[in-house]
Amino acid sequence: MSLAPQELENSASKYAAEAIRLDSQGSRGMAIQSYQRAIEALVKLVQIYPDYKLNKVYMERANAYQNRIKALQMSHGLEEEERSSPAQIDNTKQQPSNGHGTKPTASHGTKSANVETLKADFDDLVMKEKPNVSWNEVIGLEDAKRAIRESIVYPMKRADLFPLGWPRGILLYGPPGCGKTLLAAAAAAEIAGYFINVDAASMMSKWLGEAEKNISKLFKMARSLNESEGVPVLLFIDEIDSLLGTRNSEVGGEVRVKNQFLIEMDGINGKSKESQLYVIGATNKPWSLEAGFLRRFQKRIYVTLPDTASRTNLFTQYTVPLNVEGALREDELAKVSEGYSASDIKDICQSVQLRVVNELFESGKAMEVGTNPRPINMIDFKEILKIRKPSVSIDMIRAYMRWSDQFKAL
Ligand SMILES: Nc1ncnc2c1ncn2[C@@H]1O[C@H](COP(=O)(O)OP(=O)(O)OP(=O)(O)O)[C@@H](O)[C@H]1O
Ligand SMILES: [Mg+2]
Repeated sequence: MSLAPQELENSASKYAAEAIRLDSQGSRGMAIQSYQRAIEALVKLVQIYPDYKLNKVYMERANAYQNRIKALQMSHGLEEEERSSPAQIDNTKQQPSNGHGTKPTASHGTKSANVETLKADFDDLVMKEKPNVSWNEVIGLEDAKRAIRESIVYPMKRADLFPLGWPRGILLYGPPGCGKTLLAAAAAAEIAGYFINVDAASMMSKWLGEAEKNISKLFKMARSLNESEGVPVLLFIDEIDSLLGTRNSEVGGEVRVKNQFLIEMDGINGKSKESQLYVIGATNKPWSLEAGFLRRFQKRIYVTLPDTASRTNLFTQYTVPLNVEGALREDELAKVSEGYSASDIKDICQSVQLRVVNELFESGKAMEVGTNPRPINMIDFKEILKIRKPSVSIDMIRAYMRWSDQFKAL
């Protein structure tokens, strides 16, 4: 019955993409329904896995969809449908009220009114709270981490050491569940500045009509935040292919959006040394990006499936809170889990725990005081591995490798 987090995330993305498509075709009612399903999947994800690292990102996203629903309902005078309102988003549970804002405290109250207005327009895109993900929690992906440190973290700390400038655009690509979003969240947590989290799919619908004007507004907001407050700004565009991808039937608006994006990227890349504005794009369909865009992301980093050493570490990391019998033989598990993504491995660890919890409930003793599930053992892992196949196919991996041969840029 229970859905794995990756499945829930995938279904949220699927519904969102569907909603955007319907939205752009003017099918409001159906678009609203799909947005609602996307929100439901995200809310479920957050409820089932309350400790999930990316929950804040998901809640921001759900909020963005909900705002879009509101806008659609208002524009069509559909308020009377409030009764059937979308899944309620309970922010209070997820966001401690005393949360450390992404906003640096030193700059408090010094913003120009101009920035405030621009910000208000895109309020739902600026993360109010930093995701609490640290570099250590991102297993493996050393290339990707190094590239981000080199082009974002170090220049931010010592711009004077980079007389020739540094890259401002980073594209993270690779199969689902390997840590693209997680990496961006870790980078955001590291910087003392603003993190603007843009989900390209929802942006596309939000921006329909006034699309390219709004793109320039978004970048303008990012620039003025950076200039007026002197703090770095990281613009993270998840699922960037839905914004910049090539499409069969391009409507004029989309072409203009792309052109505007190119202009903005050129603006960032040509900026003076003082500018601390970065764009990280993430996609699992890099081949749908045009050459023009690729060129503007000087770093193009393949976020790969975990290798044996990383799988060992993933098993270690995700079994820390579990009660394992004796010492877990992670290296043995790593050997038999070739081809599994990081998120698959996390799901496997979760499933193993569910298995022993189920056993306890089925024994009828779960509600007795002091009863606990039996410790987990290697057989449990092997049984789960048998029934849980990798979510990424070999064909997909081949496609990424081929694309990497041609376009990778570290
Ligand atoms: N390298 C990693 N180290 C530790 N955990 C990871 C790693 N990669 C993924 N995970 C786990 O899997 C979850 C999903 O990863 P994430 O959302 O970053 O994948 P993604 O590459 O962005 O996938 P998608 O292409 O579907 O957006 C993470 O929240 C984390 O729990
Ligand atoms: Mg992602």
